[in-house]
Amino acid sequence: MLTLLKNPAQIVTCNTNKKNYKRGKELNDVGILTEHSLLLEDEKIKNVIANENLSQINYNNSIDCTGKIILPGLIDCHTHTAFAGSRADEFRQRLSGLDYEEIAKKGGGINATVKAVRNSSYEEILNVTRPRIDYFISQGVTSLEIKTGYGLSYYDEIKLLQVIQKLNSEYEIDIISTFLGAHTFPPEYKNDPLKYIKIIVEELIPFIAENKLAHFVDVFCESTAFSADQTEQIFLEAEKHGFKLKLHTEQFNNIGGLDVALKHKAVSVDHLEVISEDDIKKLSTSETVVVMLPGVSFFLDYGYAPARKIIDSGGIVALSTDYNPGSSHIANMNLIMSLAALKMRMSIEETINSVTINAAKALDLEKVSGSIEPGKNADLAIFNTTEYADLVYSVGKNLNVITIKNGKVIYNSAAN
Ligand code: NIG
Ligand code: FE
Repeated sequence: MLTLLKNPAQIVTCNTNKKNYKRGKELNDVGILTEHSLLLEDEKIKNVIANENLSQINYNNSIDCTGKIILPGLIDCHTHTAFAGSRADEFRQRLSGLDYEEIAKKGGGINATVKAVRNSSYEEILNVTRPRIDYFISQGVTSLEIKTGYGLSYYDEIKLLQVIQKLNSEYEIDIISTFLGAHTFPPEYKNDPLKYIKIIVEELIPFIAENKLAHFVDVFCESTAFSADQTEQIFLEAEKHGFKLKLHTEQFNNIGGLDVALKHKAVSVDHLEVISEDDIKKLSTSETVVVMLPGVSFFLDYGYAPARKIIDSGGIVALSTDYNPGSSHIANMNLIMSLAALKMRMSIEETINSVTINAAKALDLEKVSGSIEPGKNADLAIFNTTEYADLVYSVGKNLNVITIKNGKVIYNSAAN
């Protein structure tokens, strides 16, 4: 079946000429086409057609995109969307002066959500997570990563992975699962961390591999969580079982996580608010994607990652919400793009490439998604504006009106 997306004001292709990611100055080009329409064939992008040639084209149905713009579907490549409970009490404490790390040391933080997840059933977590996914889809998100890391026991980590697996089967969008059993040490293993690592390495990773419950394995490498050596131990086991790797690193302290991630060719390194000048250089020729999370710096009110330096020295940069209940209770892609521009001095074009093609690379999806190129999946978002700059300029405003996944309309604001 042929579908024509007819006469948009702009098609923002994020075209890479089949390279499938952008670095350095390439990030300043979003591949704008005007006076063109977009032809889909079944679940794939067929071609762009100059409007003057439209009379020669046969198609089965069409969507009038006059006055609107078409982008690749947005990709949120780092989230902790499957959680239970609320940390509004901690938010209140932070507003009265306590900081995030102090709250975590007092038993709050990640372990507060762990408690809520352990006290919730599989069904209960599914029920609270579904509306969050609907919200992402309403913004034009067509691929969403979700991490575990709030179970931190054999039973509860598997429970979260099964929640993510079920959601992936229910929704048209891709929901990519990341095992983050090494998020922090649960209270019962605080005094015996090696025992918890043993559970991750000897029990969880083999079981998850055998049952194909995750695509990535992630670790939080930080002085209050896992050391660089412990990270490597987990990575070695993950590699043995065929997992691709991600790493939360250099968020508050630099304890050598980046070197471990680069040595093991991690698909992405995420956070990097306190990355050193030396480490920035290491990223300039690396294939590892640098995922920036400006929502965390905004929500916790501390320094932003040096995006400008990382981009200017050649790093492959992506942006994500890091949506979670503690450090970034922000599920709004548009706000993240505006923060990246205003607080990290990224250009409008850089932010757009960072939530499309480079975010696809951070999820291993760059060959099939993230840009409007013939043969790729028809994963698209249609926005109600004539100028793509509005996506960053209209702070916090959802301009998406239609979300298309694999050629199928899965959200239409007119119907909601
Ligand atoms: O990406 N850095 C570690 N993990 C999350 C925070 C999770 C939480 O506070 O619940 C993050 O920021
Ligand atoms: Fe995170």
